[in-house]
Amino acid sequence: MAIQGILRPGHAAIRVLDMDAAVNHYVEWVGLIETQRDDQGRVYLKGWDEHDLFSIVLREADAPGLDYMGFKVDSAETLEHYAKKLADAGVAVERIAEGELKGCGERIRFHLPSGHALELYASKQYIGNGLPNVNPDVWPDGLKGMKPNRFDHCLFNGDSVPETVDFMVNLLDFDLTEKITGPDGEITGAFFACSNKAHDLALIHEDSKAKLHHLSFHLDSWDDIRNAADIMSKKYIPVEYGPGRHGLTRGLTIYFFDPSGNRNETFHGGYIRYPDHPCIIWEHTDVAKGIFYYGHQVVESFVTANT
Ligand SMILES: [Fe+2]
Repeated sequence: MAIQGILRPGHAAIRVLDMDAAVNHYVEWVGLIETQRDDQGRVYLKGWDEHDLFSIVLREADAPGLDYMGFKVDSAETLEHYAKKLADAGVAVERIAEGELKGCGERIRFHLPSGHALELYASKQYIGNGLPNVNPDVWPDGLKGMKPNRFDHCLFNGDSVPETVDFMVNLLDFDLTEKITGPDGEITGAFFACSNKAHDLALIHEDSKAKLHHLSFHLDSWDDIRNAADIMSKKYIPVEYGPGRHGLTRGLTIYFFDPSGNRNETFHGGYIRYPDHPCIIWEHTDVAKGIFYYGHQVVESFVTANT
């Protein structure tokens, strides 16, 4: 097994203002699959090619945003390894009992210097991807909307970017795949990978704590990005940018908003990264090209709106 320790983004818990409107957006239009609800009224969703029970949890609340993001680790031993490593470094670690999220094992929760709550967990109920493991077809029947195959990553906004880089790299063993630098070479944006994706999590500086910039769903192809754009037009979903491309990560993208104002992204591509690759640097003078590769024009709301 080449990818060990922290495996992948496993879930994001999102606050929404109106659950019925959110479910309509995420299930009927984005195309996530609803797998269950719990006695708190939370709704659990997944992309079709995710094998565990859920990756997105919706909670009705008075304000939109992110409650926490969770990463799956490869074993209970790894979970304890990180619990001890974080505690030894003076990080407050909260233990959340198995079953608090329905179908998920014990989680540990802690906060990044940027204020965001992260979790690690080792087990979640397996339900498969709707395809057999012997002679499978390439996609299951009944897919809806934009047909996302997985929850791919989050981009956070917050302060303390250098301290958060140190935390992610030295305490959680992520790679720093790309970074944005300011006029004096200071780091103002960071892209992190625990796997061989271009990023599993990113943080861009803002004078705030714990803000969600966007939640991203991976699609199978550029054609599916176009299909997603068609759906956004048909359904009057507010689009911020795209279809377009990033220089950062090389991903193909559309940014749009859910009914609560949480920014979503449909994402395809990005390069395969290996741990011996160098960190890519984007200087502040060319960061518009890095984010909006086609056109180089910064969309105003992209740097002012978050939840
Ligand atoms: Fe993204």
